[in-house]
Amino acid sequence: MTLAFSNGKGVIGTVDAQDAFEPERIVVTGGCGFIGSSFVHHVVRERPGVHVTVLDKLTYAGNPDNIAGLPSDRVELVVGDICDAALVDRLVSGTDAVVHYAAESHNDNSIADPSPFLKTNVEGTYTLIEACRKHGARYHHVSTDEVYGDLALDDPAKFTEETPYHPSSPYSSTKASSDMLVRAWTRTYGLRATISNCSNNYGPYQHVEKFIPRQITNIIDGVRPKLYGKGENVRDWIHTEDHSSAVWDILTKGRMGETYLIGADGEKDNITVLRMILEAMGRDPEDFDWVADRPGHDRRYAIDSTKLQRELGWRPAHTDFAEGLKQTIDWYVANESWWRPAKEATEARYKAQGQ
Ligand code: NAD
Ligand code: TYD
Repeated sequence: MTLAFSNGKGVIGTVDAQDAFEPERIVVTGGCGFIGSSFVHHVVRERPGVHVTVLDKLTYAGNPDNIAGLPSDRVELVVGDICDAALVDRLVSGTDAVVHYAAESHNDNSIADPSPFLKTNVEGTYTLIEACRKHGARYHHVSTDEVYGDLALDDPAKFTEETPYHPSSPYSSTKASSDMLVRAWTRTYGLRATISNCSNNYGPYQHVEKFIPRQITNIIDGVRPKLYGKGENVRDWIHTEDHSSAVWDILTKGRMGETYLIGADGEKDNITVLRMILEAMGRDPEDFDWVADRPGHDRRYAIDSTKLQRELGWRPAHTDFAEGLKQTIDWYVANESWWRPAKEATEARYKAQGQ
């Protein structure tokens, strides 16, 4: 049987009834990170009947303040490692679904030291899917478009679900490995799983090691922003709230075993984004430093999200990048106490790399 769903004006998508899913209890791994915490807020705000257990190791990138203030009868934080099989087994045994965000997530760190990426991204995923297989829990795997490698700057093509995997960095190769595990577990063991591969996220609560928050906080500190290489690399920006709404749609309406690409047609080269930040903060748009390029730096990412939009009726809400960027800048200006503790050590790491 097929269920149709509409936007109030007409049918915008359909889903097989056997795949429609209404969880009451979900485990969100990495729910104290940038994107995982956005998803926790999204679920608490939009889905009153759902209880969320956050499993997070609170690495340098995890911050419990990201989910502070949410009602304690709706959200529980368990501090622990996704590689801890006994803990994972216990949590998964009592849940309907696992939404897996936890990861080592930064390319530059993976180039300096790949080992935690292997451990968390590959072994951690293996631990989670084994528990989901054992307990019959639904599993959603949050991944990145970086598994597809890069596109040429002058290539009009975009990534689709059929693009072959071709990861470039230690980070993206461990994410690709974890995607492959999920695909194999789906086919061999019948794991009830979906995968999403999303483009670059921006918004509040992003760690200051990442491009946009690093430049905003440098400007606040009176330090010149740092641009890698020629600044011509292109990223396809999406607001983290749009990523969260897409993951919810895939979790509840996605077809089992399928991959969905998430993106919002936000392609911009880095120098354009940096100049937009400088101008929005009242600075000269040329007031930045050129620094050493990232080894193996992917040139361009671009997402074709037709499948997600056509099958599940998802649409991004934050389509005005300039406006989203301004709100993000305002958030960092207003929330210095959130980012300040991480800033000095982050910049010291970059300095040691010549960046
Ligand atoms: P993040 O680095 O901000 O957060 C990662 C979270 O995972 C942190 O809270 C950290 O404490 C936790 N964590 C790390 N290792 C853990 C472990 N072993 N056990 C339990 N918790 C652990 O990352 P993010 O940017 O929010 O990314 C979240 C997910 O989204 C990742 O899987 C990433 O690959 C994916 N993704 C990110 C982007 C992006 O633009 N940042 C784009 C597409 C996909
Ligand atoms: P980043 O936020 O690290 O995300 P990703 O590597 O997943 O795309 O970087 C985004 C882009 O910005 C990428 O092309 C590298 C570039 N970049 C800079 O030019 N300067 C910086 O200081 C940083 C951190 C990144």
